[in-house]
Amino acid sequence: MSGGAYDDRGNRDRSIANPDGVGTLVARPGTKGARQTAEAFLIGDSMTGGYGAGPDILHDCTVAVNRGEIAVIVGPNGAGKSTAMKAIFGMLDLRQGSVRLDGQDITDLSPQDRVVNGMGFVPQTSNIFTSLTVEENLEMGAFIRRDDFSGTMAQIYDLFPILKEKRNQPAGELSGGQRQQVAVGRALMTEPKVLMLDEPTAGVSPIVMDELFDRIIEVARTGIPILMVEQNARQALEIADKGYVLVQGRNAYTGTGKELLEDPEVRRSFLGG
Ligand SMILES: Nc1ncnc2c1ncn2[C@@H]1O[C@H](COP(=O)(O)OP(=O)(O)OP(=O)(O)O)[C@@H](O)[C@H]1O
Ligand SMILES: [Mg+2]
Repeated sequence: MSGGAYDDRGNRDRSIANPDGVGTLVARPGTKGARQTAEAFLIGDSMTGGYGAGPDILHDCTVAVNRGEIAVIVGPNGAGKSTAMKAIFGMLDLRQGSVRLDGQDITDLSPQDRVVNGMGFVPQTSNIFTSLTVEENLEMGAFIRRDDFSGTMAQIYDLFPILKEKRNQPAGELSGGQRQQVAVGRALMTEPKVLMLDEPTAGVSPIVMDELFDRIIEVARTGIPILMVEQNARQALEIADKGYVLVQGRNAYTGTGKELLEDPEVRRSFLGG
């Protein structure tokens, strides 16, 4: 790649992702307006809710990702980023709002049924089985499949060659960045239609972070839209088509990655100036 890490993907470089994404697209070239008004591929719409009978953590919060795009959620610790992801994955009961995938209302589906419907989710914590080998982790990822998944596993080993090398090692023996690759690989084993990642670069060095972002862009290029939470806000917004800043469970700022990177308020409050 030339220039800055990802140049200015910020919603302009249509070559990086597969703009047509999965399936068929409503808009054709030259009908950008149609694309923008089209229903997002995955949307948590106006979500309000919390954990059990506890207080609301999310307040009328909306996050979404379009076909062929990368959407990034950033915000301070405790803002509700993981809660929003869990809500979209069906791990908490919403008091208001809905979740729609590919035009279908899935608000009442269990997490497992959402996986069957094409959602892949890598949670922020406990996202691998440390005592199982790398390959066993990938096999676990394929739990909903009854077909031959060896081709998918080969693709994942192509994407993450280090996993092939370490496939017989317990995943708990891997480095932080390698574990995150296992977690992403596990989620890809279901051949998801959309991938949700909660802090995929947590605790890794800047170099490993760059590598992981490159792999994530590669996944997006294959046509899988990606909705991810990132604490490396600046770098994540550089590769984001769409960005959401959440504060106290609410949408504080929304825009293209580029718009948010250029917004003085966002810069001052969330990007360190
Ligand atoms: N399982 C839970 N039960 C009850 N409250 C929770 C639970 N998980 C998170 N919370 C609360 O929800 C709020 C938002 O937490 P959340 O984990 O969504 O924030 P976050 O934006 O992901 O933060 P971080 O950047 O630290 O990952 C916090 O006040 C937290 O204490
Ligand atoms: Mg979190």
